[in-house]
Amino acid sequence: MITGHGGNVHQLARDLGCLPSDIIDMSSNVNPFGPPPGLMALLRANLHTVTALPEVDAGSAVRSFAARYGLRPDQVVPGNGTTQLIHTLPAALETRRALILGPTYSDYADACRMHDVPFTYVLSDAPRRFAPDTARLSDACGRADTVFICNPNNPTARLIPGPDLADLCRRHPSTRFVIDESYLPFVTGGDAHTLVCADLPNVMVLHSMSKIFRVPGLRIGFLAAPEAIVRKMKRYFLPWSVNSLAHQAVVYLMERREVIDPFVAESRRVLDQERKEMAARLEASPDIEVFPGCTSFILARLTGAHIAGAVCAALARERILIRNCGNFAGLSEKFIRISLKTPEINRMLAEKLARLL
Ligand SMILES: Cc1ncc(COP(=O)(O)O)c(C=O)c1O
Repeated sequence: MITGHGGNVHQLARDLGCLPSDIIDMSSNVNPFGPPPGLMALLRANLHTVTALPEVDAGSAVRSFAARYGLRPDQVVPGNGTTQLIHTLPAALETRRALILGPTYSDYADACRMHDVPFTYVLSDAPRRFAPDTARLSDACGRADTVFICNPNNPTARLIPGPDLADLCRRHPSTRFVIDESYLPFVTGGDAHTLVCADLPNVMVLHSMSKIFRVPGLRIGFLAAPEAIVRKMKRYFLPWSVNSLAHQAVVYLMERREVIDPFVAESRRVLDQERKEMAARLEASPDIEVFPGCTSFILARLTGAHIAGAVCAALARERILIRNCGNFAGLSEKFIRISLKTPEINRMLAEKLARLL
């Protein structure tokens, strides 16, 4: 799906006759406090590198990522964002039937469609407060050879504790599990939940740098996987698919721990607090129900007569984008997702929503 994601500031800017930078984008889940200190200066200083080809296999970036997470380079596949990896996985794994834990990010289904792979969902719902239905997923695992799980999940913001997820993967050794941890860096104590180093032969982990470091335009993502799966993925690897500036960024983000770790910790701290405050503000509005979560975005339901399309359009006219969740399988035109920004912007949005509803 080329359209239908959040973050389409370009289209809205064209519609409103303004610049993309005039729009407050609360539809795209990037860290409002990023990029980390020093990164933009590093990129500016390295602009000249775009005049030569980057490393054909992104070798330095792979080695940096591997060293940061205690992996061997042959357990890592680099990608032009995790998007490239997601869309390659069904082909590389020769998936025949997939299972997707939802409601979730649509690209897993799109990747299956791209390769003519039939898929089904195991959906959670509002009465469960969108708690992932891992029991039903476990029962269904025998019907698929590949399972996609986003943890924590977009757009529900719910987390399956890492040890529970590892147990599930161990119980189904002949099923491959693709775990998308793109939003795990936002979770307080998230390191306890990662399966990056789980060392399970049927588990592979997607890791996006777009979100926590707020560099979605650089297009950087990795897959951490057993060597045998990495070999299969590499058959689809395109030369130079990680650009020169992205290389510089990965090495900085992975190796300058003394700068990056405090940045991530502080982002989590502020976003944790903001999530609680924003949830309380939204709950105080008429006709809005907020679901519990642990990330930098909030899933909410419009409980009155309002529908997401109209609410999003009214906010868009005021140059604010939030995500209409109507096109997520398992959700409807009653659901919206709000990505947290600075406290002032969050407060402003809550007030505007209260007025609108
Ligand atoms: C859950 C999830 N995974 C992966 C991606 C793709 O991110 P990227 O290709 O920038 O790594 C997104 C983007 O919104 C996402 O929400």
